[in-house]
Amino acid sequence: SAAEKGGYEYFMLKEIAEQPQAIADTLLGRLSERGEIILDEVRLTDQDLRDVDKVFIVACGTSFHAGMVAKYAIEHWVRIPCEVELASEFRYRDPILDRSTLVIVISQSGETMDTLMALRHAKEQKARVLAICNSNGSTIPRESDAVLYTHGGPEIAVASTKAFLTQLVACYLIGLHLAQIRGVMYADEVAAVVEKLRATPDSLRTLLARMEDVRALGRDLSTASTVLFIGRHVGFPVALEGALKLKELAYMHAEGFAAGELKHGPISLIDQGTAVVCVVPSPAGRGVMRDKVVSNIQEVRARGARTIVIAEEGDDDVAAFADHLIMVPPTPTLLAPLMTTVPLQILACEIAAARGNDVDQPRNLAKSVTVE
Ligand code: G6P
Repeated sequence: SAAEKGGYEYFMLKEIAEQPQAIADTLLGRLSERGEIILDEVRLTDQDLRDVDKVFIVACGTSFHAGMVAKYAIEHWVRIPCEVELASEFRYRDPILDRSTLVIVISQSGETMDTLMALRHAKEQKARVLAICNSNGSTIPRESDAVLYTHGGPEIAVASTKAFLTQLVACYLIGLHLAQIRGVMYADEVAAVVEKLRATPDSLRTLLARMEDVRALGRDLSTASTVLFIGRHVGFPVALEGALKLKELAYMHAEGFAAGELKHGPISLIDQGTAVVCVVPSPAGRGVMRDKVVSNIQEVRARGARTIVIAEEGDDDVAAFADHLIMVPPTPTLLAPLMTTVPLQILACEIAAARGNDVDQPRNLAKSVTVE
């Protein structure tokens, strides 16, 4: 009913709007005044976490994309190898796991059969399993050694939005916690990231308040036959997530690519007017990556692409290469997916609605897939 949707047309729009609060709730009680990470609720001892020499992240769908982002953060902060794998592939590959392997399973519902089977496989190999989950008491956290709940609240729309952002937050917390315990980051370095994390709900509110242009763009793109997404570093999983949303909701051909891979094949897909969504890294810090993506944008544009550019406020030079420019509030590189994903959610929702699709219950999909 309309009341359940809190005045929004779809649950998905309501859940997109709830994201700043969902992030704040997921941070609540897990950060100290001094900017340390407090994860006493996670039933793994500090010694267990110090013994970890390898991390595997296993998930499906949107949760898998959260895991891809986590890999960049964990390897950068914790300096231990981290692999990400689709749950449906993981156990059939005979992964090499032991007591010092930490397997992080990510699942909104906590009931996804592929992920559950991967978790059982990891436990049989004696790895320690930590679940990131949004559903209290569901099967995956029950069978895991430890759990960190995302406090996103119930997610009704089949396409995941707020669960994704809170999964990212949970991954950042775990990464920083590991770095803190293992002494790879100084307390003030952790505190500096924590301060930025704390600022994300407000930045996101600012961003959400100016999505009108994105909605208009969505209506405009609703007749496109294909939309491509490119990104680098953490922008790559964001590109994959943007494409997944469009497939799920708009039933439209969409693909995400690592921007650097374009020249190895996908650039042949670009034709006059092909829509390409480009996720531009922050010019701060790793300006090199930003420049690389900007040259990728020029390459697709030279071949006729219509570019939809998502960039950080203040990066005004990108305007020259953008047919549509979407600016997001400044955020450190690793945290940027908390911002850059959001316009892609709105875009997919709007395109789907313009095509007359059922936004909350897309055809052929289920909220939680309990078969392998
Ligand atoms: C289904 C949903 C997706 C979700 C995936 C993983 O396919 O339609 O939106 O990302 O399952 O779900 P989970 O609950 O394990 O995060």
